[in-house]
Amino acid sequence: MAPHSESKPQQILPPYTRRGFIALTTLAASCTQAPPLSNTPVPRRVPPTDPRQSMATDSYGPTPRNPNLSLDSNFNRRAGITFTRVPVNGKFIALTFDDGPHPTNTPRLLNILRERNVKATFYVIGRSVNLYPQILRQTVAEGHEIGNHTQTHRLLSKLSDSEVLNELRRCRDSIAQASGATVRTMRPPYGGLLPRQREVVHAELGYPTILWSVDPLDWKRPGVGVVSSRLIQGASDGGILLAHDIHAPTIDAMPATIDSLLRRGYQFVTVSQLIAMKSEASAAHATATTSNS
Ligand code: NI
Repeated sequence: MAPHSESKPQQILPPYTRRGFIALTTLAASCTQAPPLSNTPVPRRVPPTDPRQSMATDSYGPTPRNPNLSLDSNFNRRAGITFTRVPVNGKFIALTFDDGPHPTNTPRLLNILRERNVKATFYVIGRSVNLYPQILRQTVAEGHEIGNHTQTHRLLSKLSDSEVLNELRRCRDSIAQASGATVRTMRPPYGGLLPRQREVVHAELGYPTILWSVDPLDWKRPGVGVVSSRLIQGASDGGILLAHDIHAPTIDAMPATIDSLLRRGYQFVTVSQLIAMKSEASAAHATATTSNS
């Protein structure tokens, strides 16, 4: 009558297996993994930055507001094929959100951005656009930029050229049908797009590939404070900040993140505005400084 003493000393495997499964599915569901940098800036005509923009460094109210920026976003398509950041003269930065629209988190984020007059760039998945077209329309109506994040979020580096272009064209069409918005840039899921594929995408669709300079790994849910501090500490002039508007804690991190960056003098612009501001002097400097690495 001592069944327990006869039981096998196992029962260790199932929990580990389950944990492994969760880790795997978490990994599969998110974008990560920056590929190697390949910034090859090309000199181009540069619109001057607007001298009317004054940074509100003396404003320490509860909700700092981004200045009203009327910047050119008609960047030259030859400006570059891949961007992880953009050399600019000034404290300009782009906030980007991937994988939406999301039915509750995206609207909550839009409220936070609106209060601060911050315009962001949303790399949306066409499949989600088709599910939540009204949220995309609201995003566009509030002045944000929409980027192409493919129709079904597959790893493009494993696909043929025609499959890659099909993923991007379907997403472009989903966006246009839902909102009428024109897409200027793309971001590959997981950052996975081979240099040769980037050239094909640029030649066929005119999209530069937009990666990022700061990845807070928010999809791993490290906590609101960690997401916020990683973004703030990683910020730099011309930086592109990556986040995901499908995760509630990421949205929770945004007020403190944005307020801190505004108080540090950063001005938020969209990705295509940032590219349009690309400075020849900075580009030359960036080329010189990155040639050693
Ligand atoms: Ni993604």
